[in-house]
Amino acid sequence: MEVVIVDRPEQVMADIIAEAVSGGASTLGLATGSSPLATYTELIRRHREEGLSFAGVNAVLLDEYVGLPPTHPESYARFIRDNFTDHIDIGEVHSPDGMAPDSKVAAEAYDALIAQVGPVDVQILGIGSNGHIGFNEPSSSLTSRTRIKTLTEKTRQDNARFFDSFDEVPMHVITQGLGTICDAKRLALVATGEGKADAIAAAVEGPLAASCPASILQWHRHATVVIDPAAASKLADAEYYKYVYAHKP
Ligand code: GLP
Repeated sequence: MEVVIVDRPEQVMADIIAEAVSGGASTLGLATGSSPLATYTELIRRHREEGLSFAGVNAVLLDEYVGLPPTHPESYARFIRDNFTDHIDIGEVHSPDGMAPDSKVAAEAYDALIAQVGPVDVQILGIGSNGHIGFNEPSSSLTSRTRIKTLTEKTRQDNARFFDSFDEVPMHVITQGLGTICDAKRLALVATGEGKADAIAAAVEGPLAASCPASILQWHRHATVVIDPAAASKLADAEYYKYVYAHKP
């Protein structure tokens, strides 16, 4: 696992995506939440100003709220269109069907679709303050597939800022499982700010454990964690990670 500590994580993230796309990547894994927003803004800029093209690339989203239609302002399908994919020349963008009459069937169908359009070349990830990735809350099976999950109170509180009230935050979601996420060829997790420092320390230097789902990155063959100094502030070996990055062969 590579840990990159920089003042502008979005530049390193955008480099990872741009290199993959220029090198023939055909499937990107996209994440929602505020963490990847600066990366998306930078990729849109490179598309507009530097000719970075996503033609021939399709995308899959990590997760979706159950009960929100793709037109709802807080649905992840809408979020990714508004903040990224409507502004570039990418192909199809797939997301779990949060309105399906049977979420279990929809989750299994989405997992099968990812296998069909995949493998994902690069999966972008954020991290929840409790260490979740996608919506895999603590105690998620480390080999889980796409399924319906119940959000923790903490995650609903964290995400309430996007809704008019806490009660409007859905309780259930469909999320790619940790096993599904690990099918991607490369994982790139971005986090900024002190609020993510504990989760990053647990993910990077804690044990591989279901209590911190993001620790699954330790198990993946090609995982990169891109963070700012505040998010890195609780890492015991931060100086070593900086040294390694500065001397990257
Ligand atoms: C949500 C998303 C995650 C995201 C997390 C952190 O729960 N399902 O994919 O990583 O929020 O969000 P933020 O980046 O806004 O802190």
